Amino acid sequence: MEVIIQDSYEEISCQAARIVARTLYSKPNAVLGLATGSTPLGMYKELIRMHQEEALDFSRVTTFNLDEYVGLRKQHSQSYHYFMQENLFKHVNISQQNIYIPSGTTNNYQAFCDWYEQQIEKCGGIDLQILGIGSDGHVAFNEPGSSLGSRTRIKTLTKQTIEDNARFFDSADEVPVYSITMGVGTILEARQIILLANGANKAKAVAGAIEGPVTSMCTASALQMHRDTLFLLDHEAAGDLKMTEYYQWIQSKMPDSP
Ligand code: PGA
Repeated sequence: MEVIIQDSYEEISCQAARIVARTLYSKPNAVLGLATGSTPLGMYKELIRMHQEEALDFSRVTTFNLDEYVGLRKQHSQSYHYFMQENLFKHVNISQQNIYIPSGTTNNYQAFCDWYEQQIEKCGGIDLQILGIGSDGHVAFNEPGSSLGSRTRIKTLTKQTIEDNARFFDSADEVPVYSITMGVGTILEARQIILLANGANKAKAVAGAIEGPVTSMCTASALQMHRDTLFLLDHEAAGDLKMTEYYQWIQSKMPDSP
């Protein structure tokens, strides 16, 4: 587990984009696990710039998104299908057939979830997984109480997540109550993971994830069991960490940090 604390959201975003780019340079047909929400927006913006100005190539890349709201059509402005098209896919040369996002409108969720897991396996597993973190410590929509061995399935959102996400809708009543989400167990199988967090409202969740006990009450804490996870944080998100000096000391001893 590595913890890097940066001065700004822009620095976190650019560093994450550089790691994604490095993955694509070394493996042009890499499988990426992608996240939605406000946190990865800066990283997507930088990846689009790299595609446009530095010819970063997505033509052989496959992507799997973490989650989707149940009941929202793909065209809905708050669906994660729409988010990904608007904020990344339509700006880069990814092949639409290589894009996988959980369906929020299937009529057989169990079959869909099984199929989604099979597709990840068939593509050789996820090389690099990008994660945000919820203020309740969730990764994807694995809310507190989710099994740390869970697989893709339907999950009921917590009231806190509904409140947090209400900013994207006209009111909290419009936020779907159910999501379809990769499980914690699914996420832990990715070869490499980067969790991005910025802002003081994430400080408690980040401290729980990095320095708290491994517990289903903060599903991000399961990343402590993963052997190649990087936490990229700004100072506000790192605000409740106790070992900050040590993390910064480690970084200062690393001549070529990414
Ligand atoms: P945010 O959401 O990036 O919009 O803060 C993160 C999450 O809920 O995982």
